[in-house]
Amino acid sequence: MLFGRVKPLDAILATARKKALPRTLGALQLTLFGIGAVIGTGIFVLTSEGAQKAGPGLMLAFAIAGAICIVAALCYAEIASMIPVSGSAYTYTYATMGELLAWTVGWALVLEYAVAASAVSVGWSGYFVGTLRELTGLALPTWLTAGPLVLGGAEGGFINLPAVVIALAVTWLLVIGTTESARVNAVLVAIKVIALTAFIALTLPSEEFSTGRFNPFLPAGVFGGFGTGLGAVGAAAIIFFAYVGFDSVSTAAEETKNPQRNVPIGLIGSLLFCTVFYILVAAGAIGTIGGQPIMGPNGIPFPAGSAELARQCALPQYSEMLVCSNEALAHVLRQIGYSTVGNFVGLAAFIALPSVILILLYGQTRIFFVMSRDGLLPERLSTIHPKWRTPYIVTMITGSVVAFAAAFLPVGKLAEIANTGTLYAFLMVAVAVLILRVKEPHRERSFSVPGVWFVAPASILGCAFLFFNLPYHAMLVFPVWGAVGLLIYFSYSRSRSHLGRGIIEVVDDIEGEETMLPIDPPRAV
Ligand code: ALA
Repeated sequence: MLFGRVKPLDAILATARKKALPRTLGALQLTLFGIGAVIGTGIFVLTSEGAQKAGPGLMLAFAIAGAICIVAALCYAEIASMIPVSGSAYTYTYATMGELLAWTVGWALVLEYAVAASAVSVGWSGYFVGTLRELTGLALPTWLTAGPLVLGGAEGGFINLPAVVIALAVTWLLVIGTTESARVNAVLVAIKVIALTAFIALTLPSEEFSTGRFNPFLPAGVFGGFGTGLGAVGAAAIIFFAYVGFDSVSTAAEETKNPQRNVPIGLIGSLLFCTVFYILVAAGAIGTIGGQPIMGPNGIPFPAGSAELARQCALPQYSEMLVCSNEALAHVLRQIGYSTVGNFVGLAAFIALPSVILILLYGQTRIFFVMSRDGLLPERLSTIHPKWRTPYIVTMITGSVVAFAAAFLPVGKLAEIANTGTLYAFLMVAVAVLILRVKEPHRERSFSVPGVWFVAPASILGCAFLFFNLPYHAMLVFPVWGAVGLLIYFSYSRSRSHLGRGIIEVVDDIEGEETMLPIDPPRAV
C-alpha cells in the first residue's frame, strides 16, 4: 500500500527513552536559543528585498509572517514534546502519515536547511564585502562577489567567492565536530540584539526620520498579484525567512524543565521578541532613508532580485536606495551619518551570521543522517568519522552543495526557495498534530496546544497562504524538486527502506550510533 508504511510510535519513543536527556533548560535559555537561530540574513539583508516588494508595507509583512510562525510554532511544540527525537518534521510525518509523505517532507527539509544555509552565506558575503571596504578601503571586484546577472546577480558578477568560503569553512567546523555551546550562543545573541537595538535607537529618533516617507504605505497593494511575489503578502512570503529556525526551540522540549510552561514561553517569547524588533528595524530604515520600491514603466515594482532591478540599481540616482543595498542595516546608518555604528552593525552580522549557517547545516546533516539510517538514503552517508564522531560524509556533501548554490544564486531567490520547503514541512507538522490528537488522544504530551482545532488549521492555512504568495519561480521549484525526490524514492529508497524490510532501529542520534558503523548492521526489534 502506497501510504501504508507508518513507523510505529512506540519504536520511535523507545529511541527517545534511550536518549533520556536531563531536563536543564529554562524559559530564558529557550528564548535565547530561539533568538540565536532566528535572527540572521532575514532582517540584516532581506529588508531590502522586502521593501522592493511592499515598500513601507514591509512592516505589515513582518507582522503577517510572525503571526503565522507563532501558530506553526505551537504545533511544533506539542509534537516535539510528544516525539522528542531527531529528524523533526520528517520523523513526525513518518509516525503519522507514513513513509512516502515522510520522504517528501525529508526531501523538502533539504530546501529548508541546505538552501537556507546558502541564502545566509550569500547574506553574510554582502556584509563581509561592505565591512572590508569600509574598514580597509579594499573593494573586491564584482565578478568575485556576486553571481551572474542572468541568475539575478549583479552586472559583471560571476561567482560569490566570500559566500563559498564561509559555507565551506562552516562545513569544516561541523566535520571536526564543532557545535555551538549555550555560552557562545548567548554571546552571539547579545551581539545581534545590541546591533539591532543600536539601529533602532539611532534611526527612530533621528532628525532624518520623517513620517512622510511611509506614504504611500502600500505602493504595490496588499496583494501584488498571483505569482508576482509583490505587495505586503508577497513580502511576507519572503520575509518569513527571517523567522525560520525557531523549530530548533521545539526540538529542545525534552531537555526543558516544566515544558508545559517553558516551551510555549520560549517559542512565543522568541518569536514575539523578533517580530517587534523586526517591525521597529523596518520602521527605522524606511523612516530615515525611505523604502519605496523602484517602479517599472507600468507602475509595478521591478521584481526583487531581477536583472532589470540590478541594472536600475547600478544607476547613480538609485544606487543609494534601501532596496539596492546588500547590507541594508549598515547602509542605512552610514547614510544618516553614523558610519562607525554602521560598521559595528556590519561587524556584528559578520560575526554572528556564520552561527546561523552552522545551525542550518547541522540540521540538514542530521535529517540526512536519520533518513539514511532508515535506509531511505545510502547508509554509507551516515558513516561516522572514527576520530571526530561526526557524520562527515554527509556533512561534506551537503556543505559542497550549499557552497555551490551560494556561489551563483542571489540571496532573495535562495530564501524564497528555502521558504517553499519550510512552509510544506510546517504545514505537515500541523496536520500530524491533528492526526495524533485523533489517533492517540491519551498519549503523554508534556505540552498541548490550547485551542488546537483552531491553531493547527490556522497554521495549515497560513503556510499555504504564504506559499501561494511566493513568485512563480519559487512555487515552480517546489514541485520540480518534489518530482525528483519521488523518482529517487520509487527507484531507490522504497525497496531499501528498513521499515519496508521489517527492520526498525531504536537508536537515534550520533551519540548512540555504535550500531550504525558499517561493521555492525542495524538491530531489529
Ligand atoms: N531566520 C534565519 C535568518 O534570517 C534563517 O537568517
